[in-house]
Amino acid sequence: MSNINKIQFLKNVEIKDISYADLDKIMLLITEEYGNNYQEQEFYQENIIKNYIKRNLNNEGVHWKGAFYEGNLVGQLISEIIHGIAYLKLAIVKQQFKRMGVMKLLSYYIERVCHEHTGSDFKCVHALISNENIAMQKHIVKYNYVRLGTTPPWELNKFFYIFGIIVYDYRWKLCVPNPKFYVEIFNTVKSNKLNRFISINPSFSNVQSQTYDYEIDSIRFEQLPNPFPQKIGILSPKNEIVAEISENKYQKSWYDLLFTKELNYRTKELIVKNILDKFEHNESINSLSIPININDQRLQNLLLIYKLKYFAYLPFYLNGLDAILMGKTKIKN
Ligand SMILES: CC(C)(COP(=O)(O)OP(=O)(O)OC[C@H]1O[C@@H](n2cnc3c(N)ncnc32)[C@H](O)[C@@H]1OP(=O)(O)O)[C@@H](O)C(=O)NCCC(=O)NCCS
Repeated sequence: MSNINKIQFLKNVEIKDISYADLDKIMLLITEEYGNNYQEQEFYQENIIKNYIKRNLNNEGVHWKGAFYEGNLVGQLISEIIHGIAYLKLAIVKQQFKRMGVMKLLSYYIERVCHEHTGSDFKCVHALISNENIAMQKHIVKYNYVRLGTTPPWELNKFFYIFGIIVYDYRWKLCVPNPKFYVEIFNTVKSNKLNRFISINPSFSNVQSQTYDYEIDSIRFEQLPNPFPQKIGILSPKNEIVAEISENKYQKSWYDLLFTKELNYRTKELIVKNILDKFEHNESINSLSIPININDQRLQNLLLIYKLKYFAYLPFYLNGLDAILMGKTKIKN
């Protein structure tokens, strides 16, 4: 299409909140683009989509905008805000309307609405983009997003870039990471213009010396029910979920472990050893990643002993605290 047609087209595109009436159109957009292989498998479930729509309409941390042309849904974008981080999801534009500025329009609206509705609690945006998805990478860097790192590869030459942008960094923080990660962290902090003092000086070790009472002797793994169809819970003897594993991204070949409770070192060690054992012995799992509090040098040291490496710096990722992503892969280049 010529430029003038593009402008006329965009003038007739209406950006609206997604509503329950759009359910079939949403599914069509997903399946036309991805078939049944969209990485966030939860979006194939009607009850989960409805829950997102409800949260969108009630302004409960979800912003979901659709681009409509002549009544048809031609593009969509979700921003889900969890503990001050907005995660971009479901960025899709219908094939015949690609390269017409639809995603630019949606991104503009989503950005505006996030600023309007979330105030000072909204600190940064994260987006996971496949290394092969050049279009989305080119789009996002125009909005000044920077690379925070990558996930470990789960197949040969397949990994995600973790992009991020800091929206509101309100005060200086002291970070005391493992000295082995100093250079990477310093570079990310600089390129993100983050307010961080980074120190490896042991005299600041009080930053990391937080202790937690929460300790358990044994754990169980259990598939979590809806709305977590892709997650395995790690449960304490009292049935509390102390950590979660996200799986099933691309043939279950990538496991991401997240601690959901403030656990003491001994318990974290127990969980990490269990997961590493699963990882080593289950042939279908190619890669493993674990976000860790940036000041938790002790756990970082343990993972270094097990040959995990630094993959990314994740500002605000753990309930507002910075994290680093450590990981391991069986894929060899
Ligand atoms: C990525 C995608 C959402 C872009 O939507 P779009 O409406 O076509 O994008 P726009 O027309 O608004 O273009 C915005 C910018 O993206 C970049 N871009 C878009 N398509 C591109 C392509 N095929 N090649 C290179 N850059 C591209 C350009 O920088 C473009 O700006 P420009 O036109 O000024 O150069 C669309 O291609 C799509 O639906 N892809 C499949 C699903 C997907 O990959 N989603 C992202 C998951 S993280």
